[in-house]
Amino acid sequence: MRAKAEARSTRVPPAARPHASTAALLHELQVHQIELETQNEELRRLLGDLERANQRYVNLYEFAPVGYVTVGDDGSIREVNLAGEPIFGLDRKLLNGSKFAAFVDPDDGDRWHLAFQKALKAKEKQSVAVRIRRADGTTVQSWLEIVPVREEAEPLVRIALADITEYTRMEEDLRALQTQLALTARLGALGTLVTGVAHEINNPLTAVMADQGVALEVAREVRARLGRGTSPDVKSEAQSLDGVIEALEDAQEGGQRVGRIVKDLSTFGRPDAQRVRARLIDVVQGAMRWLPATVTGAVAVRVEDGGAPDVTVATGQIEQVIVNLVTNAARAVREGERDTIIVRLGPGSQGTARLEVIDHGVGIAPAILERIFEPFFTTRSTGKGRGTGMGLAICHAIVTAHGGTLTVESKVGKGSTFRVELPAAPGEA
Ligand SMILES: Nc1ncnc2c1ncn2[C@@H]1O[C@H](COP(=O)(O)OP(=O)(O)OP(=O)(O)O)[C@@H](O)[C@H]1O
Ligand SMILES: [Mg+2]
Repeated sequence: MRAKAEARSTRVPPAARPHASTAALLHELQVHQIELETQNEELRRLLGDLERANQRYVNLYEFAPVGYVTVGDDGSIREVNLAGEPIFGLDRKLLNGSKFAAFVDPDDGDRWHLAFQKALKAKEKQSVAVRIRRADGTTVQSWLEIVPVREEAEPLVRIALADITEYTRMEEDLRALQTQLALTARLGALGTLVTGVAHEINNPLTAVMADQGVALEVAREVRARLGRGTSPDVKSEAQSLDGVIEALEDAQEGGQRVGRIVKDLSTFGRPDAQRVRARLIDVVQGAMRWLPATVTGAVAVRVEDGGAPDVTVATGQIEQVIVNLVTNAARAVREGERDTIIVRLGPGSQGTARLEVIDHGVGIAPAILERIFEPFFTTRSTGKGRGTGMGLAICHAIVTAHGGTLTVESKVGKGSTFRVELPAAPGEA
């Protein structure tokens, strides 16, 4: 700076100096004056910088889109920015010095206190949702970010407040809607089930009543003839009785069908059977003993054990799933062929045990693929060995209740693979 000043002071030519020492002094003074002026300039520039920085800080703090509050370690409000005012519903001059806790809904008081103390003592940022009670009595659902301030001499926290009333309301609406939807879906499913049950029970029941009606009428006639002694001959009377027997046999079959539907349905309502840790291969072997003769007579079943993790299951229920799937597979075999149904075990996706039932039968058309798990959906509603359509619905309910999944892949003319995945027992996989 001295050098700069020296350079500038040469404006006065040394020849014009009246006296050597005076001239030297004057020169010295001029240099000092210039030095001071330069320093002054520098200071003014710094001051300008500071003012701009301050303005920036004020802009950032005051006009930030969230409320900022500075709170001392005694819990009293020291400073509030502009956006903070509407949250409290008070002029900030009135806020300064008040306890922050006085504005917190009493129900959230503990939560606020804990977060505040933690931020202050542990010097860690805390986040907490509390309701702020405004001066007019209304409440604002707020999200607080409480940050300890390190630079200041006394312990302070700075709190960023965001009004999340709207967000919370939307969340509540959404939750209510979800509950409503779940209920509607359940009622819908129940409705479908009840309608199906009514229909499925009503049909055989009507047939049973008709059969019994016929049997009763014929039996009464025979009885009356025998009583009056007007029977034509034993042979024709025996024929009449054959009709009674036939009608009663049909009635029996109808009754059995209703019985089967009711038994199937009780699987849905049955409280969870006890679950035990089991090797899946043991469950499969158990199920093999229950396969109906119509299945074992028609197909071969090969079990391929690829080492599945253990599972925790109601053994009887999973056996039922396997029996149902293998029975379906056997029924899908084309006329005159003898298929080998494969039951394949192995590890599944994401820590599950997998069981697949694979057939090479008729396959399932895409149009009906999405309906096969519906209760009472069946394509075998007539003829011998007709189904009730409850098999897969029961399988699905059982597997889902075990926290697992039941899926299907199928190609018409090529066959189907039904895949069960069950969560592995703790410590497995
Ligand atoms: N492996 C399979 N191959 C081809 N179609 C199948 C197979 N498994 C199921 N299906 C189809 O899905 C329908 C529903 O099966 P589900 O087991 O629920 O009922 P069902 O076998 O008809 O009767 P139920 O099992 O109650 O005696 C069957 O009618 C059939 O059309
Ligand atoms: Mg079935």
